[in-house]
Amino acid sequence: MCGMIVSVAEATNPRASSGRSAMCRRFPALLLGAVAAIAGCKSPPSATPAGVPIAIPAPLGLPPVPIPPENPPTAPSIALGRRLFYDTRLSKDDSLSCASCHRPENGFTDGQERSKGVGGMIGLRNAPTLIDVAYSPLYFWDGRAASLEAQVPGPIADPLEMNQTHKASVAKLKDDRSYAAMFRDAFGSGDITLERVENALASFERTILSGGSAFDEYEYGGRNDALTAAQIRGLEVFRNPAKGNCAACHAIGAHDALFTDGEFHNTGEGVDATGELTDLGRYRVTHIDADRGAFKTPTLRNVEMTAPYMHDGRLKTLNDVVDFYAGGGNSNPYLDNRMSEIKLSAQERSDLVEFMRSLTGKLPLGVGPPTEVKSQ
Ligand code: HEC
Ligand code: HEC
Repeated sequence: MCGMIVSVAEATNPRASSGRSAMCRRFPALLLGAVAAIAGCKSPPSATPAGVPIAIPAPLGLPPVPIPPENPPTAPSIALGRRLFYDTRLSKDDSLSCASCHRPENGFTDGQERSKGVGGMIGLRNAPTLIDVAYSPLYFWDGRAASLEAQVPGPIADPLEMNQTHKASVAKLKDDRSYAAMFRDAFGSGDITLERVENALASFERTILSGGSAFDEYEYGGRNDALTAAQIRGLEVFRNPAKGNCAACHAIGAHDALFTDGEFHNTGEGVDATGELTDLGRYRVTHIDADRGAFKTPTLRNVEMTAPYMHDGRLKTLNDVVDFYAGGGNSNPYLDNRMSEIKLSAQERSDLVEFMRSLTGKLPLGVGPPTEVKSQ
């Protein structure tokens, strides 16, 4: 009985995990007792990390890291998440880990126009960076996941990505006895559940922070010599509403800068030669007309490492991006009203690109592959 109901829940709810414990978790408390008596359900193991929560320090230029109360990070839960992130057993044929498409050396992207999943299946969109992903209010280019935790089941089961059921993923992890000890350290018991996998991966992802760049030293660290003359001119073009107007969406605050407003805009990227939108973006989630062709504003931190650019990976270089904006984006009925043709000299264009290169900060030491992992 448990299994039957759960399979429906799993099909319709991306956060639903497989197995009887998921159903037990979801059933209202009063009914739970009766159902548990009939079906023999036990209460599910808690997915809240055990032990002492630790602070994730934010580098210069970033605000404090937001932490959901139900998933406070601990050293063991972050270590577990790091191992899972680099583990290919989360994919159907053991060929891909999260890191295959979010590679540290490519600024946590895969360097491809659109990602390749299991068996070389070409995905629909470009892999976004995971740098500073902790701050995003919504996840995916179209914002269809509400939290980092809720995002995790997506790529595992997606036929164009890891293509493996959640149940099979959990079973494969159970086969490796060394995981039981890591789950025990992180959650207080050796039980392996999808919800625990989600929480550990999310806590690890919250540590992928980049700040302290040359820009941060200049803007927030009081070091006037941290930027070159060209970069300072580029920053002015970036901010000036009558010039680049870039900061209208790639926000720079008084005390910190995420280089995104966390919102969705239609820049005309992805409009084909006939003027049609090739991907409806945010509209697919909200069904609001104004959201047609709107995508999440990406951060620009470490942007020189994350080419190619945009949700479809169509723009190959930062020069291409600046030329795209100078042209006012691609005209279409849903174009954001902050987008318009801008006059930028060759010097101003190259200054803007130089400025974007100043946004590369050092990544923390603990975000690369853990030493015990041999392959990605
Ligand atoms: C086959 C390549 C591939 C794999 C494997 C993969 N991803 Fe992704 N990831 C993508 C693509 C492509 C997107 C954007 C999809 C979209 O927006 O529709 C994405 C989006 C994301 C986002 C949203 C970022 C944002 O700013 O909104 C997060 C977080 C993420 N992935 C984490 C993970 C984790 C964790 C794993 C492993 C469980 C993983 N990814 C595995 C390609 C991949
Ligand atoms: C109206 C809001 C808005 C304005 C103004 C704006 N951007 Fe963007 N930017 C976006 C959105 C939304 C995307 C993603 C679009 C997509 O993928 O379809 C984006 C994508 C980018 C990317 C690609 C990043 C990546 O990881 O793929 C770069 C680089 C960029 N913008 C730089 C700039 C610069 C430079 C300016 C000023 C000349 C600027 N933006 C002005 C909203 C804006």
